[in-house]
Amino acid sequence: MKSTVTHFSAKQFAVLLLGGILLIFPGVLGSATGAHCIFAPAAGVASAHIEASRVGVEILQQGGNAADAAVAVSMALAVVYPQAGNLGGGGFIVYRSAEGKNYVLDFRETAPAAARQDMYLDSAGAVLSAKSTLGGLAVGVPGTVRGLFRFHRRFGSLPWAKLLEPAIRLAEEGFVLNRYVSRSIRSAAAAFRKFPGSAAVFLPGGKAPEPGDRFYQKNLARSLRTIALHGERGFYRGEIAREIVKSVQMNGGILTVEDLKQYRAIEREPVVISYHDYRIITVPPPSSAGVVLAGLFNSLQTIDLGRFPFNSPQYIAFLSELEKRYFALRNQLLGDPDFIRMPLEQLYLPQFAARIVKQIDYRHPVPAAEISAQNLLGSESNQTTHFSVVDPAGNAVSMTTTLNGSFGCKLVAGSTGILLNNEMDDFATKPGSPNMYGLVQGRANSIAPGKRMLSSMSPVVVTRHDSLIGLLGSPGGPTIITSVFQVLLNLIEHRMDLQQSVSAPRFHQQWLPDSVEVEKNRFEPAVLEKLKQWGYHIVQRNHLGDVEAIWRKQGGWSICTDYRGNGIPAGY
Ligand code: GLY
Repeated sequence: MKSTVTHFSAKQFAVLLLGGILLIFPGVLGSATGAHCIFAPAAGVASAHIEASRVGVEILQQGGNAADAAVAVSMALAVVYPQAGNLGGGGFIVYRSAEGKNYVLDFRETAPAAARQDMYLDSAGAVLSAKSTLGGLAVGVPGTVRGLFRFHRRFGSLPWAKLLEPAIRLAEEGFVLNRYVSRSIRSAAAAFRKFPGSAAVFLPGGKAPEPGDRFYQKNLARSLRTIALHGERGFYRGEIAREIVKSVQMNGGILTVEDLKQYRAIEREPVVISYHDYRIITVPPPSSAGVVLAGLFNSLQTIDLGRFPFNSPQYIAFLSELEKRYFALRNQLLGDPDFIRMPLEQLYLPQFAARIVKQIDYRHPVPAAEISAQNLLGSESNQTTHFSVVDPAGNAVSMTTTLNGSFGCKLVAGSTGILLNNEMDDFATKPGSPNMYGLVQGRANSIAPGKRMLSSMSPVVVTRHDSLIGLLGSPGGPTIITSVFQVLLNLIEHRMDLQQSVSAPRFHQQWLPDSVEVEKNRFEPAVLEKLKQWGYHIVQRNHLGDVEAIWRKQGGWSICTDYRGNGIPAGY
């Protein structure tokens, strides 16, 4: 069955467009760079799509808890935000119960059993980058459905099938496309045309649907009904599993029914970072978030950051040099803990962080080529999506999920309506060569059967004096970590409110390429000039990250979505 669109009359369209503009660019009424924020006395959701945020609040108001709402939001994002929301991808959850227990669930994709270290190299050893990003060979074993099912079984309260009802409705009855999703589909149109099944879903009538069109995904609705009825087995076994495998193999891939059957979601020990009187709770490897954020915050505990005015040349230079070193460690040392040994104890040590800080003279940047994990020890259009949910009892879910690239590998599996990931590109397909994020990574993250590819996903929960203060996360590949880091710094160190913290300009350094990425037109020319004089290579980027955050405010919650994306918060 094909997906279809309905058209609106010119008048209906004008009303919709105006409403859409106000929803999509809430900042037009104030600053064009202002996060969209609401105050919610009891509970709410910050997500990348208004329909998904509404679904979450619906579930909370029906008596569901944060875990129930998270499952429903995630399923809804798979329908209304198909470039990143998914059934065919993976992710991480940080959950904090109202009683104060922290929990991390890793449902990252794995390499199929037939994967080989050199599977993306030609006979001369050159990287075949299209193979790790487009079509069947790019697909890692999806983890989302098993992850959500397991999370629901442990913490949910409403019936599983009920949580899928809103997603089924949105897929079956359609939803009105906003400009952002429509533009993303148009950008991916050439790739969708390579896969007739994908083109049938995303290019109905042979062309990308327009903003204001109603977008239907009848096949996806059918798959969601199967998963609602049969739970995780509905995805990992039976008709859907067979369709996914057939489609992947017909398009050059190696995924098998056995890979799907064997996939496990894993509970991991949360990383708890102490920063002043705050605790930042996040994820360990196979995400690099915990290690890098711990290193960055530990380092800042050893200096008085207050001596560098916010976003001054000194501030940007110092933090970039710090980020450069922790990304060098990340890119060279980190990977799947079930496959490699990592010096995690050393990397989490405050003394180690202090030593790193001592090496930094911000007026004299050290070229990336002269920085390696070995010498630091002394002897990592992207598409991921994050949402944050808090319920009236104080349970909190911070969840980041991804297909990797926008619409993953662009392949919709057979007649399932399910888009598949291209997460294999997060591996070091050839150690020492850049992946699609320009990350130059090492053997620790090379491909092996069943191995999880290193991630930058950084879902975070923050407490103070053992009380929940907030939760946030972002898409953006490696810029996830630095976006989350800078928003946290703005909140904790610079005492900004959530709206200011999310709206503030961002910069990013990831070791290689050896440059500081800064958001275009958001920094004073004199600041950038000074950085150049000191020897920093400055690259202008439109946006870094798309933060969805919730933070304590006057006995309730400030709930914000980033002006850089298209999310709208919801709460009550
Ligand atoms: N696919 C982006 C990440 O996991 O870092």
